[in-house]
Amino acid sequence: MPALVLLGAQWGDEGKGKATDLLGGSVDYVVRYQGGNNAGHTVVVGDQKYALHLLPSGILSPGCVPVIGNGVVVDPAVLLSELSGLNERGIDTSKLLLSGNAHLITPYHTTMDKVTERFLGSRKIGTTGRGIGPAYADKINRVGIRVQDLYDESILTQKVEAALDFKNQLLAKLYNRRAIEAGRIVEELLGYAEQLKPFVADTTLVLNRAVDDGKVVLFEGGQGTLLDIDHGTYPFVTSSNATAGGACTGAGVGPTKIDRVIGILKAYTTRVGSGPFPTELFDDDGEALRRIGGERGVTTGRDRRCGWFDAVIARYATRVNGLTDFFLTKLDVLTGWERVPVCVAYEIDGKRVEELPYSQTDFHHAKPIYEFLPGWSEDITKAKTFADLPKNAQGYVKALEDMSGAPISAIGVGPGRTETIEINSFV
Ligand code: GDP
Ligand code: IMO
Ligand code: MG
Repeated sequence: MPALVLLGAQWGDEGKGKATDLLGGSVDYVVRYQGGNNAGHTVVVGDQKYALHLLPSGILSPGCVPVIGNGVVVDPAVLLSELSGLNERGIDTSKLLLSGNAHLITPYHTTMDKVTERFLGSRKIGTTGRGIGPAYADKINRVGIRVQDLYDESILTQKVEAALDFKNQLLAKLYNRRAIEAGRIVEELLGYAEQLKPFVADTTLVLNRAVDDGKVVLFEGGQGTLLDIDHGTYPFVTSSNATAGGACTGAGVGPTKIDRVIGILKAYTTRVGSGPFPTELFDDDGEALRRIGGERGVTTGRDRRCGWFDAVIARYATRVNGLTDFFLTKLDVLTGWERVPVCVAYEIDGKRVEELPYSQTDFHHAKPIYEFLPGWSEDITKAKTFADLPKNAQGYVKALEDMSGAPISAIGVGPGRTETIEINSFV
C-alpha cells in the first residue's frame, strides 16, 4: 500500500495529528502538502503531549522521513523554533526534507493578514493571523518568495522589493500603517538561509522515487474539507486545497499513485472562526462537548464552536475527496448522553435536502433535521476491539458509516496513540 492521503473531513481539528502519528510507525515518509502554521496538530505519546503546527506529525516516529511539500507556506522563524523545541525534548529532526519550491511567509504577510481582518470588521474570516492568506495570494499573484530564493541574494532582493511595492502603498495609504522596508526583510530572511539549507531538497523527485520503490508514503492534510478554498464554505475557508487533490499538486505526485484516501471524522462537529455551521449548539450540550472534548484551538487558543455530527457534511467529504475509509475520532466524548442527535439532512426553505447545497445562501439557511440515536454510559476508553464497545456505541458507529458513504476503519476512544480501535488495517 504505497501512498495514502489522510485529511480532515469536517472543519479541521478532527484528530489528524493523532491518526498520522498512529500510522507513523509503519510509514516511510509523512508529507504535509498544504497550509502552514495555521494548523495545530496534537499528538499524545505516553505522558508526553506535542503540539505541531508546520512539521508533519510523522516527525515523532523515528523511522519516518518528514517532508514539507511545495504546496505548504512556510514561516521560517516558526519552522526553526518548532525544530529546536523538539530537539530540546530529545526528538531527532535531522531527516526533515523541505521543498525548495515551498513559498515563504514573511513578516509582511502576517501584517497584511492582521490589517485585512481588522478592515473587514464584522465580515472578518476569523483567520489564525499567521499570514496564510496573503502568502498564498502572493503565490497566485506571482510575487511570492520561495525557499530556493534564500540562496540567491540578488533575486531575493528583487522579489521582496517587487512584493512590497504594492503592499506598501496599501499599508500607507489605505491602512494608515508604516511602510515595510525591503532591506530589513531581506536581511531577516537571509538570516534563516544557512540553518534551513541542510533540509532543502527536490521533494517531488524524492517522493516519486519512494512511491516507485514501494515505500509507504502518507500525505497528511492540514485543516479540513469544508475549509478548502474550492470545496469549502467560501469565503469562510483557508487559502489552500485541503481536499485530496491538494496532495497531488502540493507534493508533485500524480493521482494514479494514490491508493487510499482516509477522512478523519470527529464523532461530533467543531469549527473555529467565522462562517455557517448548521448543527452548532448554543446550549448546555454545546458547552459539555467543548468541556469534555477539550475543544480549544491548539494554534490560537480560541474556544471551538461545537455541534452534533452532520452526516450531510460527511457524505460531501466522501464525494469531493473520493474517500476510501473514515477514521472516526473522539467517540469517547459522547459517552453519557441518553440519546445522541445526528443530522441526517437539512431543511432549506421548507424543503428536505440530503446533499450539501452548492449555494452559499442555501447553506446559510440550512436547518438540521435530526435522528436521535440511543446513547451509552459505559467507559469506552479501554476498548480495544469493536466488540468491546457497548451495543449502542456500536450502533452509533454503524449508523454513521451507513450515512457517510465509506467504511469506518478505525475508531478513536481517547487522545493517546494506543486508545484506538483498528478495524481494517490502513497500511
Ligand atoms: P488536528 O488538527 O486534526 O490534528 O486535531 P487537533 O489536535 O487540533 O484536535 C484534536 C484533539 O483531540 C487533540 O487534543 C487530540 O489529542 C484529541 N484527540 C484525538 N483523537 C481523540 C480521541 O479519539 N478521543 C479523545 N478524547 N481525544 C482525541
Ligand atoms: P488544523 O490543521 C481549524 C480556520 C481559521 C479560519 C479559517 C482561515 O489544526 O485542523 P487562515 O489562518 O487559515 O487563513 O484562517 O480557517 N483554520 C482552522 N480551523 N483547524 C485548523 O487547522 C485551521 N486552520 C485554519 O480558524 O476560520
Ligand atoms: Mg488542529
